[in-house]
Amino acid sequence: MQLIMLGAPGAGKGTQAKKIAEKYNIPHISTGDIFRANIKNGTELGKKAKTYMDQGLLVPDELVVDLVADRLQQEDAKAGYVLDGFPRTIPQAESLDAALAKMGTKIDYAIDVEVPDENIINRMSGRRACVKCGATYHLEYAKPKADGVCDMCGESLILRDDDQPETVKKRLGVYHDQTQPLIDYYSGQNVLKEVDGTKDMNEVFADIVAILGE
Ligand code: AP5
Ligand code: MG
Repeated sequence: MQLIMLGAPGAGKGTQAKKIAEKYNIPHISTGDIFRANIKNGTELGKKAKTYMDQGLLVPDELVVDLVADRLQQEDAKAGYVLDGFPRTIPQAESLDAALAKMGTKIDYAIDVEVPDENIINRMSGRRACVKCGATYHLEYAKPKADGVCDMCGESLILRDDDQPETVKKRLGVYHDQTQPLIDYYSGQNVLKEVDGTKDMNEVFADIVAILGE
């Protein structure tokens, strides 16, 4: 099963991708998580990516495309994967299609998690993230067992640098300009599925399972 998650920042792509990965036993590949791990480890890629991410801008396509193409060649991705945060521009989608065509395969579904902009700012200000393992929480909707501590690995939880309200507004603008056109792109390939991301996260997941099958 080869899946793409589409949706605005904070729509719940990561939340749903983790559940999908667990249920269908496929890797969750999040370009945002890969960049954040690189920033944490002080790599050259991380240094480059941080300057864009902190401003709410997209990292240039050339820093992302090869990285994902390489990741998809790894052994654990043979049985499928759920891509979260990639592709994010039409050129990224075209290079993904080209890389998959070379491998003799294609995307099964692009799942668009729909949430209106009005709901997004509130969601982001309550999000807390673990920089070590990538787990995501929410102060109201998905509380960790102990305040400020990751349930999975015990690391402290943080408010992401790019979750300040002004940066979230910028990211939403970038999403509408550069990423939303992918909805038509995948609709044209007959692989687009839309789910209502304003529902409770377990209901959203049930809607996704109804699409993918048990
Ligand atoms: P990335 O990390 O991908 O961020 P994003 O797309 O902005 O999305 P988020 O991770 O913020 O939101 P999400 O949809 O995953 O929501 P979540 O599940 O956490 O990218 C960050 C940056 O990296 C980009 O801005 C860019 O600079 C760069 N980048 C990454 N990939 C790139 C690429 N391909 N090309 C170029 N640049 C790239 O949920 C949000 C919150 O809401 C959580 O607290 C969650 O608990 C809560 N929540 C989730 N679902 C629900 C629900 N149904 N009801 C209530 N609360 C919910
Ligand atoms: Mg995410």
